[in-house]
Amino acid sequence: MALPPQFLDELRARTPLHGLIGRKTRLARNGRQWKGCCLFHNEKSPSFYVYDDHFHCFGCGAHGDAITFLMRAEGASFPEAVERLAAEAGLEVPKPTPQAAAREKRARDLHGVLSLAEAAYRRRLFLPEGRAALDYLRRRGLTDETIARFGLGWSGEGRGALAAELKPEGIEPAQLVAAGLMKPRDPDDPAAGLSDMFFGRVMFPIRDRRGRTISFGGRTLGDGQPKYVNGPETELFSKRRGLYGLDLARDAAFRGAPVLVVEGYMDVIALHQAGFGGAVAPLGTALTAEQLELLWQLTPEPVLCFDGDGAGARAAARSAELALPLLSPERSLKLATLTGGEDPDTLVRKGGAAAFQPVLDAARPLSVALYELVTAGKPRETPEQRAALRARLEEVARLIPDRMLAGEYRRALLDRFFEAGRRPIPPAGARRPPRREGGATWRREPPMGVPGLQRPAIDPPGIRLERARNLLAILLRHPLLLPEVEESLMALDLPEGDCQALRASLLGWLAGAELLDSAALARHLANDGMENAATWATRAPGLCAAAQPAAQPKEALDGWWHFFGLLRGEAELVEDRAEAQRLLVETNDPAAQQRLIRLSEALAVLRGGESEVTTEEATIRAAAGPASGGPSGAPRADTIG
Ligand code: UTP
Ligand code: MN
Repeated sequence: MALPPQFLDELRARTPLHGLIGRKTRLARNGRQWKGCCLFHNEKSPSFYVYDDHFHCFGCGAHGDAITFLMRAEGASFPEAVERLAAEAGLEVPKPTPQAAAREKRARDLHGVLSLAEAAYRRRLFLPEGRAALDYLRRRGLTDETIARFGLGWSGEGRGALAAELKPEGIEPAQLVAAGLMKPRDPDDPAAGLSDMFFGRVMFPIRDRRGRTISFGGRTLGDGQPKYVNGPETELFSKRRGLYGLDLARDAAFRGAPVLVVEGYMDVIALHQAGFGGAVAPLGTALTAEQLELLWQLTPEPVLCFDGDGAGARAAARSAELALPLLSPERSLKLATLTGGEDPDTLVRKGGAAAFQPVLDAARPLSVALYELVTAGKPRETPEQRAALRARLEEVARLIPDRMLAGEYRRALLDRFFEAGRRPIPPAGARRPPRREGGATWRREPPMGVPGLQRPAIDPPGIRLERARNLLAILLRHPLLLPEVEESLMALDLPEGDCQALRASLLGWLAGAELLDSAALARHLANDGMENAATWATRAPGLCAAAQPAAQPKEALDGWWHFFGLLRGEAELVEDRAEAQRLLVETNDPAAQQRLIRLSEALAVLRGGESEVTTEEATIRAAAGPASGGPSGAPRADTIG
């Protein structure tokens, strides 16, 4: 007797998973999750994560909810596990009711009807009446083994043949209607009788995750319309909640195959035959949230394949929009794009697995693809247009409920945004993939709006420039500080020109660098055409002690925040601090705490009055002098590539 899904959901919701698992292995808070050593394989460093409603081991792949945990950890049977959890949660396990029993029997019967129908269709494919259909499938490159594996068949020509064939098995026409295989000829006139849902079509059984047939899709042999007919919604079948090929893809995914979503049934079949056993397709509708959930049960990062045309781009954008509010650190997507008017089926038909593999290899993480989806076709010439685009990017990042992850997306998107305004052609040796935006020309427009227009200028430009130069010099000399100050650096209004160019180059390097050492940074800057700007930033006169190579990390960091506070302005600092406080409350992350302290200090310095001139400031003011009016004196690297 199956239990009602609502009861099981309630049971899971009422069971604090970390409490249950914490009795067996020591768990420590890790952001919003818990982390510990896995119970299901031998490990010394923890890779076992416990979330609100499930656990996952990144070491051995163990995965499940409270019920499966008890079953695996204690060898409990399903009813035992449910009984024990219910007792702890103060819930009563529902007794079978006559209605529930009747519903279950009906479902069992429907499965029986569908499986008899499938057998009939399959048999017909190999009879003379199915000859044209069988030839068609073979012409499309399917082997007999594939045809059998997917249970493909031939509907026959209709006229009640299926009902007649199943009558001796005791199947009533009403059951065929309930199974979605027949329908009233005229919905307004019951006396008009029933007609077949499928006739003259190649039949594609649609199966649930356990491999039971729950409906069918049927394709015409020729060019008739509609090309595909899918069964109606029934007690067993919901288009939104299933995926074509899911039963087979599950097995493949557990064996390590990448999980791919393609558009059509034939794409799924062709890909499986070519060895991509993780392929699935939606059931004649756009991808739904329910389907994304199914995919994430198989893999943290399914790959969605789209056509390279406008419709494909729209579908990709729609899927991204659907996914963003559902993302979490362990649930993401990759996007792959097909080109040249091919679909996966035509591609593997022509070139086999070797033709499709590169499409898969070129799949881009959502965080990367998203930038192009959002900015495609949007003008970015004027400051107003750029501001609108930037606002849109920030808005998109805010769709992600997980705050940490949203912050990461925001950073990645803005990083691209700055870079797009600065450097359309990546330098030789850059690790990043080529960008599409930009053209042959590029300009040195301030990417973040014009300083001085957004708030009253509190500094004479010369002093401001010297402060920015010091702030950047500290990072050039102490690149290890970059991760800690990255977000703040990004948010800063820096003087136009070399300062902004250096920042973009530093952030670009940080995003791909494996080792944050000075030698690697120097190589990157040279590649980036930033040598002169870096020399300017680190020239000795007016440089603070924190920017000296001999400075201790602590001293360098203090110096950095000092200049940050001076450059940032009071209103923004107040905002930054509030944000840091929010983050700290939510994540309890030591880094957030550090940031909060730093920002409070910077604010205190700023409010304490600029009158209190530190020795560093004195040097700067002297160096800025009346003659130094802007970056124009510094050598500039104006062209790249
Ligand atoms: P496609 O036309 O791309 O499917 O439609 P396909 O599998 O590539 O078709 P062929 O056999 O190679 O020509 C994609 C999916 O959209 C749904 C089906 O699920 C199909 O697999 N569809 C398409 C329909 O439901 N009805 C239609 O009339 C057409
Ligand atoms: Mn096709």
